[in-house]
Amino acid sequence: MTSRILILDFGAQYTQLIARRVREARVYSEIHPPTRDLQWIRDWAPDGIILSGGPSSVHGADAPLIDKALLDIAPVLGICYGMQLIAHVSGGEVKRGGRREYGRAEMTVTEADTLFSGFDEGEPVTVWMSHGDHVEQPPPEFTVIATSRSNPVTAFRHRSKPIFGVQFHPEVAHTPRGTEIISNFLFEACKAEPTWTAGAFIESEMARIREQAGSARVICGLSGGVDSSVAAALVHRAIGDQLTCIYVNTGLMRLHETEQVERTFRQHLGIELIVMDAEQRFLDALAGIEEPEEKRRRIGHTFIDVFEDVAASIGDAEFLVQGTLYPDVIESVSAKGGPSATIKTHHNVGGLKPGMKFKLIEPLRELFKDEVRNVGRELGLPEEIVGRHPFPGPGLAIRILSDVDRAKLDTLREADAIYLEEIRSAGLYDEIWQAFAVLLPVRSVGVMGDERTYDNVVGLRAVTSTDGMTADWFPFPPEVLGRISSRIINEVPGVNRVVYDVSSKPPATIEWE
Ligand code: XMP
Repeated sequence: MTSRILILDFGAQYTQLIARRVREARVYSEIHPPTRDLQWIRDWAPDGIILSGGPSSVHGADAPLIDKALLDIAPVLGICYGMQLIAHVSGGEVKRGGRREYGRAEMTVTEADTLFSGFDEGEPVTVWMSHGDHVEQPPPEFTVIATSRSNPVTAFRHRSKPIFGVQFHPEVAHTPRGTEIISNFLFEACKAEPTWTAGAFIESEMARIREQAGSARVICGLSGGVDSSVAAALVHRAIGDQLTCIYVNTGLMRLHETEQVERTFRQHLGIELIVMDAEQRFLDALAGIEEPEEKRRRIGHTFIDVFEDVAASIGDAEFLVQGTLYPDVIESVSAKGGPSATIKTHHNVGGLKPGMKFKLIEPLRELFKDEVRNVGRELGLPEEIVGRHPFPGPGLAIRILSDVDRAKLDTLREADAIYLEEIRSAGLYDEIWQAFAVLLPVRSVGVMGDERTYDNVVGLRAVTSTDGMTADWFPFPPEVLGRISSRIINEVPGVNRVVYDVSSKPPATIEWE
């Protein structure tokens, strides 16, 4: 039997990262709300249970608590609030507020066993803290296994049962040895088997998609990007011809993109593809609009209008497949009322039309980009699709930093195509997470031949990233940048200046809008 880890989500921003770390260790996991009752959890038969962090205090009036009997169902690891819960229900003392701690801290392992197997006792280990409350006194049957100056009870374990708690966050990258700690919990404490793979994800998602869709018709908006392609391939494998894919030419696509997408999909996926030309509809919807969120809203709504029209023409479709990924979810909606704020309304999550008649199928909603790419490879998609840079749903509209019209789109398309062509021929495409040009709403003076010019400025952006949540600007060799700049200025009419964006995310974002 495949090992299964149950993650109970108490509302932390990092809960999905816990699931991701568990999956990276090749163990299956699911996230569930803390309202699951004991019988449900026993029936689910977890090999281990992880209690996430969360914004509550165990002393708060509405704090989500746990039944002490939960701690006897399977090995348990409590993280941050999860640890405080274990302490609270087992007779320890959790102190409210007082010693807030946020950021890196040094902890010292005092027992290099099970959870800290492979560590050296007395050795300082960097961990990431983010908490208000803390465990002041461990419960009577517990012993401290790591300590730090500001937090004497940094980690504890039960003396005879496999119950562990850590005050820091092993799931975030800022805890460099966090993956080891989570693996120790999985393999030393839970005795889990590392058998879960992208193949296993595909199997379980297919079953879920079949159950959700029943015999209904399903449509999928294909943009040609990695996410929608993988989502389409996965849903197609699950329900075959019940799926119809629709590619909408919004007029906001890159050069020759429509032709490329048509070719690759018919050829590689063997999925029936309807191509809708809706360029004018999108341009009309966007006319005169400068505000980025308003652009997204209008594009999102126009997409749905077009889908509804096409859906009506192929018989009634009940479901719409979206290639929503986890970072879209975190950044677009305040997940579960938690502290994460809305940064941008990514159209495939937050910008859907109210009252739209489709129900959503979002098979990738819990994955990060690199995981999606692995799933795509496992599904047999070619590298030219799987390895593509991300491209946002609203397309070039959010890369024109003013109102959008066809002439500006054509200028940007040409500059962008030269940029990507040069990146490819320099052999740098796969080193970069995403690269694109933006058309700035400023004009600058130049001189071409003996003539004064007063023309557009193009900004270039290229970043490295692992999941799009944080990013660094890409350090191009100067000669590559020089070549790109001179080609764009010489070959694209109306552009006389090129600038390179050297901002990281945060505090900037990847797109300019
Ligand atoms: P930001 O700009 O938020 O981008 O740092 C993170 C990633 O998301 C993409 N992005 C979008 N994708 N609809 C999408 O489908 C959107 O509205 C949108 N805005 C940004 C962006 O290209 C990057 O990969």
